[in-house]
Amino acid sequence: MGKLAGKVALITGGNSGIGLATAHAFVREGAKVVVTGRDPATLEAVRQELGSDVLAIPSDQASLADSDRLVARIQAAHGGLDVAFVNAGVGGSASVQTATEAHFDQIFDTNVKGLFFLVQKIAPIMRSGGSIVLNSSISPYHGSPNTSAYSGSKAAVRAFARSFSADLRTQNVRVNAIAPGPTETSIFGRTRSDPAQLSALRERVAASTPIGRWAQPEEMAEVVVFLASDASSFMFGAEVVVDGGMTGAPGAAPIYRA
Ligand SMILES: NC(=O)c1ccc[n+]([C@@H]2O[C@H](COP(=O)([O-])OP(=O)(O)OC[C@H]3O[C@@H](n4cnc5c(N)ncnc54)[C@H](OP(=O)(O)O)[C@@H]3O)[C@@H](O)[C@H]2O)c1
Repeated sequence: MGKLAGKVALITGGNSGIGLATAHAFVREGAKVVVTGRDPATLEAVRQELGSDVLAIPSDQASLADSDRLVARIQAAHGGLDVAFVNAGVGGSASVQTATEAHFDQIFDTNVKGLFFLVQKIAPIMRSGGSIVLNSSISPYHGSPNTSAYSGSKAAVRAFARSFSADLRTQNVRVNAIAPGPTETSIFGRTRSDPAQLSALRERVAASTPIGRWAQPEEMAEVVVFLASDASSFMFGAEVVVDGGMTGAPGAAPIYRA
């Protein structure tokens, strides 16, 4: 029997990257899956890929009205939720000296405010024994240039995993976070159009990761399955770092071993 057999699971940003890989893993483990995103074309492609049991709902995490409509759709279709992977997020590259208000707002509206209110709105339909997994990042641990707004947003997500779990304890719902390291998805290409810049970033990051490469989204999905399932029943307010050693053993990276 699958690790999520019979569970109803929401994945925000389930039409690309880590969210899409997790949607595949959740279906494989027997969950009834609801995916969201903003792009109707990729949502439809996911529905066709994963089968007609999957609900693919256009919903902007930055819009509280969209989140209200999403919760109503889930309640009508499934009566409640057992698992939520609140994964949708945006990146962006700007220093504190150059960042515009629009840059800051775009990141915080989706990654922080939208995530906060989505959890508030799904809380009443989360069933006892449920699990919420937030997608944070190792970015707040690094102090890399041009990541201030993004890192700040993900530090908030890490803090939410702790405080949400304290609040939702009364409902017997656990909240934890996954903090991915560099993972091959479209997130970096969304804000960088220069292929040479992207390829330099790829090489630089691989060389500074002890394992010597980027993660595949499926490697994150396996950890999300664990956090979503009863196998992680004693995990509560935790953050699982999955970063090829970038924070645990940075000195083992290829750049230091040449
Ligand atoms: N890749 C990495 O190295 C890495 C590392 C650490 C953390 N993360 C985190 O992992 C999460 C997933 O990113 P990814 O790497 O898989 O990138 P991705 O392939 O670009 O996926 C991002 C997903 O989020 C959705 N999304 C973005 N803004 C949204 C909004 N306002 N409302 C609804 N959906 C929205 C996108 O769907 P639409 O395009 O349809 O809106 C897409 O499905 C993000 O939170 C990211 O910060 C990624």
